[in-house]
Amino acid sequence: MNTPGLGKIIYTEEQIQQRIAEIAATINRDYTGQELVVICILKGSFYFVADLTRRLTMPMIVDFLSIGVTHDESGKTAIKFNKDLDVDIDGKQVLLVEDIIGTGFTLGYICQRLETSHPASLKICTLLDNPAERLLPIQIDYKCFTMPDMFVVGYGLDYRQHFRNLPYIAEYRY
Ligand code: IMP
Ligand code: MG
Repeated sequence: MNTPGLGKIIYTEEQIQQRIAEIAATINRDYTGQELVVICILKGSFYFVADLTRRLTMPMIVDFLSIGVTHDESGKTAIKFNKDLDVDIDGKQVLLVEDIIGTGFTLGYICQRLETSHPASLKICTLLDNPAERLLPIQIDYKCFTMPDMFVVGYGLDYRQHFRNLPYIAEYRY
């Protein structure tokens, strides 16, 4: 019954692509005539950003950032940027793209840091929202799916770096 490993498919490839087309249409309407900086949070959102941006029609720049967790001598955890942005977002319309929002801590940290660069606007787009895990309130501007409270892999999401390449999203029991 509860054998570890890949479980059932939660969102099929067709469902994912359909929702991406829908939110891309909304984003195209919202940013008509404006240039956009799309920020891909590595590694989980690279498939999502690749598929989403190919459906966006405004002039745009895509940039990447990567964060990691560090532990200091006292055992305290801290978040740091492994890769910072290459472009200057001062005065720009910025769309931050995440794979999944759980507690909200990751995104809260990134937003706080990006706000110090004074973007003209900063909106959040996520593939998955797991509201059951939320500890920090996050205003999500665009989302594909509100998911059930479970651990999932595929379409960029990993378990110990594996399963990112699945074209669908499935439950994973570990
Ligand atoms: P948060 O800081 O709790 O919002 O965590 C968000 C990050 O945790 C995401 O960017 C993912 O990397 C990871 N994560 C959270 N839930 C899952 C899941 O179900 N599958 C894979 N990764 C997850
Ligand atoms: Mg992530």
